[in-house]
Amino acid sequence: MNDPSEVQDNGQGISRRRFLQGSGVAAAATALTGEIASVPAAQDEPRVPAMGPGAVKIMLNVNGRKMGTAVEPRVTLLDALRNYLDVTGCKRVCDRGTCGACTVLLDGKPIYACTMLALEAQDRPIRTAESLVQGEKLDAVPAAFARFDAQQCGFCTPGFVVAMKAVLEANPKASPSDIEKGLAGNICRCGTYEQMRDAIYSLCNQKRS
Ligand code: FES
Ligand code: FES
Repeated sequence: MNDPSEVQDNGQGISRRRFLQGSGVAAAATALTGEIASVPAAQDEPRVPAMGPGAVKIMLNVNGRKMGTAVEPRVTLLDALRNYLDVTGCKRVCDRGTCGACTVLLDGKPIYACTMLALEAQDRPIRTAESLVQGEKLDAVPAAFARFDAQQCGFCTPGFVVAMKAVLEANPKASPSDIEKGLAGNICRCGTYEQMRDAIYSLCNQKRS
């Protein structure tokens, strides 16, 4: 059966289908030309060695200790810490960068460990909530949480204390409002915010009104 789109047009010898195919190729060529023009030449790009898909050896610097393991390149820093190195202070809750339960310090700055690959964190100092306990001695931040009963299930707590520690290290004179701003990326599903505020005010040596 004849395809109506193959019907020749007004005597110029071009079918509708051929015209559309031709237009599509031209449009694609235009788009590709634009894209190629904006992409740097391959020889200018940094050479990244191909890795995986199998496990590759990595070395992480966690709480001052070098810890080696082997992970597939797709493994996040959070999963490498928890599932391969048994550093379980950071928690896996949303696993998509929205709750802050997995917060760790990388180069002294808080990051979501679920949004970074373990490979990327090599040779950089990582600190987790475990670094805030030395033997029996609790750092002032988790101690304030304990004193003001600022947790219920406790799943969010390691992320909160690590993020809070980062604010106080960057600015030991931080105000309660500075600290609260630094906690903007952390969520407590149990709603212990009022007790956390008590802890924050005590860390700032201020009385809550
Ligand atoms: S588990 Fe990483 S942000 Fe929620
Ligand atoms: S104490 Fe349960 S989520 Fe914060």
